[in-house]
Amino acid sequence: MATKIVEEFKRIYGSSEGVRLFYSPGRVNLIGEHTDYNGGYVFPCALDFGTFMAIRMRDDGKVRLSSLNFDLKVEVNINDLVYDRKDDWANYTKGVLKVLQDEGYKLKGFEALYEGNIPNGAGLSSSASIELVTGVAMNEILNLGIERVELVKLCQKAENNFVGVNCGIMDQFAVGMGKADYAIFLKCDTIDYKYVPFKLDGYKIVISNTNKRRGLQDSKYNERRSQCEMALNYLKKELNVDNLGQVTSEEFDRYKYLIPDDVLVKRARHVVKEDERVLYAVEALKNNDIKTFGKLMVESHNSLRDDYEVTGKELDTLVDEALKLDYVLGSRMTGAGFGGCTVSLVKEEFVQDFIDTVTKGYRERIGYEPSMYVTGVGDGAKEIKIK
Ligand code: GLA
Repeated sequence: MATKIVEEFKRIYGSSEGVRLFYSPGRVNLIGEHTDYNGGYVFPCALDFGTFMAIRMRDDGKVRLSSLNFDLKVEVNINDLVYDRKDDWANYTKGVLKVLQDEGYKLKGFEALYEGNIPNGAGLSSSASIELVTGVAMNEILNLGIERVELVKLCQKAENNFVGVNCGIMDQFAVGMGKADYAIFLKCDTIDYKYVPFKLDGYKIVISNTNKRRGLQDSKYNERRSQCEMALNYLKKELNVDNLGQVTSEEFDRYKYLIPDDVLVKRARHVVKEDERVLYAVEALKNNDIKTFGKLMVESHNSLRDDYEVTGKELDTLVDEALKLDYVLGSRMTGAGFGGCTVSLVKEEFVQDFIDTVTKGYRERIGYEPSMYVTGVGDGAKEIKIK
C-alpha cells in the first residue's frame, strides 16, 4: 500500500519529493456501547486496517485533497475552512484543521492523497480515522507539540462542532490511542485508561457488516442521548451524580422509581448495566476466562436490543446466526447500531465456516449478503516511514 499511494501521489501532484506518509486505523468496540457520552466505561480496540494519508506541505496556503476511494477532489485555502456538504469526506479533514487553528496553532497549506480500506458508514469509525490521520500529520510535520490524548479530544471536537455529529470520545480515542494486541479500557468522564492484552489464543475477531443502507441513525442517536439526560435528571433528585456512568447498579435498582416513564427507565438501565458488564468483562479477560467474556458480549447485545432498542432485524439476525455455532464465543452489535456491524469471537479453525454459514443464514432471512472482515488488533495513528 505504501508504495502504491506514493506512486499515485506522484501521478496526481506531479512529484513525490518530500512526501510523508501517515496511517490511522478503524476501531471496533468489544463491549461498553452507548456508555461513552454517559461518562461510563468502554472497551474498544484499533483494527489492523485503516486510512493512509500521503502529504506534502505547500507555501501558498492551498489545501488540496484527493482520495483513491472517491473521485471527489477538494481545494480550499487554509484560512477559509467552512463546512460544505458537497465536500463530503473532506469535511473531516477541514474540521480538524479548523479546530487546530481555533486553538491557536499556526497551520500551512498542503496537498494530500488519502486511501482507506475501512468500509464507509459501517460503524467502524472511518471518519475518526480520517480525523486522526490528519491531526497526527499536522502535529508531526509542523511540530505542534500536541499530546496524543489532547489531539484525540480536538478530533472529537471537529466531529461535534464542525461536522455536527454529536458523538462521544470512544472512536477518536481508540483510533488515536490504539496499540497492537491491546484493547483500551477507558472511563469516558475522567479519561482514565488502561491497556489490557487482547490476544485470545486460538480465536479471531470477525466483523460482520449488515450492509444495511444508512437511515436515520444520527437523529436516533441524538434521541438516545437526550433520553439518557432526562433519566439522569430524575435520578438526580436523590443521587448526587453528574452522569449515568456514576450510578451503580444497586443505586439504579433502588431509585429507578423516580423515573416516571418506562422507556426512559429502559434506556438508563441499559447504560448502568452495560457499564457494569464492561468491568466484569475486563476482569474475566484478566483471568483468562474468555467464556465469560463471550457471555457478557451476548448480554450486551440483548440489552441493546431490548432496553436501548438500537439493533434492528439485520443486526439481530447476524448475532442470531452467529450464536447458532458452538465455536463462537460471543457476538454483539458494535458502534452506534441501527445497522453497521457486529463483532464475533470465532475459533480460528472455523473462521471460514463461520463466514459461509452466517452469510447463508443472513441472505436467506434478509435477502442480501453481509460482508465479513477478519481482523487483528492493530496500532493507533502513526507515521509510516517511506523506504
Ligand atoms: C458511535 C459514536 C461513539 C459511541 C458509539 C456507541 O460510534 O461515535 O461515540 O457513542 O456510537 O457506543
